[in-house]
Amino acid sequence: MVNRDDELLQGIKGLHFHTNCDATEFASLLATVRHIQDLIPKFLERLTWVNMGGGYLFNEVNNYSDFFQAVEIFREMFGLVVFIEPGASVVRSAGIIEATVHDLFESGDAKVAILDATVNHMSEVFEFQFEPDVLGYSKGGSHPYILAGCTCLAGDIFGEYTFDAPLDVGSKVKFLNMGAYTISKAHRFNGVGLPTIYMRRSNGAVQLLKEDTFDDFAGTSGVIHSAVV
Ligand SMILES: Cc1ncc(COP(=O)(O)O)c(C=O)c1O
Repeated sequence: MVNRDDELLQGIKGLHFHTNCDATEFASLLATVRHIQDLIPKFLERLTWVNMGGGYLFNEVNNYSDFFQAVEIFREMFGLVVFIEPGASVVRSAGIIEATVHDLFESGDAKVAILDATVNHMSEVFEFQFEPDVLGYSKGGSHPYILAGCTCLAGDIFGEYTFDAPLDVGSKVKFLNMGAYTISKAHRFNGVGLPTIYMRRSNGAVQLLKEDTFDDFAGTSGVIHSAVV
């Protein structure tokens, strides 16, 4: 008689799970691994790899021992190849979105600066209400602004920031730590193009990598723009 487990698990070589979000310590990861180890040891014995997902802020961790233990359980006890998928930890601080102030106006007591950027390019701001880091933001500075995006989306607002000097039309506003969860999740609401991507090399040279075009936008709806004009 065919063992039902054999049948169900046929062709399965690995297990993928994800526990962390911006984790600077790994007690929950180790607890998850111990739980899996207790629950399905026979299953683990038949695998070749395990993937422990992402959500690690490795450069802010003081003690790695729980992480090492988690890896050791899979590697030493079950002979598995262990993968992880660190994203934010590797690329978050590598990206800056630079925006330009397009318009300034007063709304009640507040000054609003409209940027040529949008929260649709920063999924964490819109979905999780993260306040993005802004270069030149000075807590308690004497020039407060609501920084807002340029689409008609209700909620296209980055947050309230104070600066030491007033903003003008044309001023640059730089959002720091934008390397993760931006381009991969950005979209073109209202047809606002995705940010142009430049790379700054270690010798200071700046290289254009990718510029979003109207044809790219039209193409997402299956429209071949050159056939319409
Ligand atoms: C399966 C998986 N891998 C990787 C990641 C990336 O996480 P991070 O970029 O925070 O390291 C996530 C985020 O939720 C995830 O769910």
